[in-house]
Amino acid sequence: MLQQVNALVTINRPLTGDYWLIELEAPSIAGLLSPGQFVNIRIPGLVPFLRRPFSVYRVNKERRRLQVAYKMLGEGTRLMTTALSEGGFCDVIGPLGKGFSLPEQAKRIAVIGRGIGIAALPTLVDLAATRNIDVRGFLSARTPPNLIGADIFADHGFPVETHVDGDRNVQVVTDLLQAEISRTSFDAIYVCGSNRLTRAAHRLAQQAGILSEVAMEQHMACGFGDCHGCVIAVNTDREGTEKAWREVCHYGPVFQTWEIINASA
Ligand SMILES: Cc1cc2nc3c(=O)[nH]c(=O)nc-3n(C[C@H](O)[C@H](O)[C@H](O)COP(=O)(O)OP(=O)(O)OC[C@H]3O[C@@H](n4cnc5c(N)ncnc54)[C@H](O)[C@@H]3O)c2cc1C
Ligand code: FES
Repeated sequence: MLQQVNALVTINRPLTGDYWLIELEAPSIAGLLSPGQFVNIRIPGLVPFLRRPFSVYRVNKERRRLQVAYKMLGEGTRLMTTALSEGGFCDVIGPLGKGFSLPEQAKRIAVIGRGIGIAALPTLVDLAATRNIDVRGFLSARTPPNLIGADIFADHGFPVETHVDGDRNVQVVTDLLQAEISRTSFDAIYVCGSNRLTRAAHRLAQQAGILSEVAMEQHMACGFGDCHGCVIAVNTDREGTEKAWREVCHYGPVFQTWEIINASA
């Protein structure tokens, strides 16, 4: 059930690199949220008034607070750093969209993220840990300070491979998964933050015959399927013979990688 709350801002400060972290006291959203779903934040003073969508980075143990890791990109995210001050309030709607599926029988999963796209993944890692599912992380970023989340994997005792641009040992972080997949069996692959990594994840999952899902990021307005502002063309069959338009906010943001035309072409 969708909630709109005026949430206390408990944290809003720089995280690392280009990223900031905002934490909101929003138990009615945090308690309902499943991994991969998102929230829509109203930013005071932003003109034209349109909320901005964000993945939930962490939910605290008591499921009262949620955190968003955000990259300062344009007017809205720049304003977020000043207009939503600690001790003030934030108008937030959520949980929105369809999140990741984590098969009941899964024993080991691979989680791949790049840049701020990594922010969509820790809630999935936390859920997998509660189900005793083994997680292998594959994270990449443009620069070392922009590589977030590795500590979250490590706190659960999950191995994580990292890669930054210019690192000559491997070309892309999925090369490391490719090596791993030849030795170890996985039940699913999850990815966010890069078309290139999504294509690689799709190819590896196809070869292994396993589930692969991607969290898509698309410009949004309403966030719940009303304005059709976030449509993308998707495959409606695995062979890619039939296509359809889908609102990312309603049918996603998580899709199976075969649905994504660029990933599966
Ligand atoms: C489901 C979902 C989850 C998201 N999760 C996060 C998150 O956890 N952390 C985070 O930092 N960002 C996330 N985003 C992206 C975030 O919504 C945008 O960065 C934000 O709306 C930019 O607002 P702005 O006003 O600062 O930038 P704008 O002024 O609106 O845009 C600045 C520049 O960024 C581009 N841009 C804006 N929005 C997007 C987008 N959605 N995709 C690609 N390019 C865009 C614009 O084309 C423009 O070039 C998510 C988006 C979606 C749809
Ligand atoms: S943002 Fe309005 S339909 Fe998706």
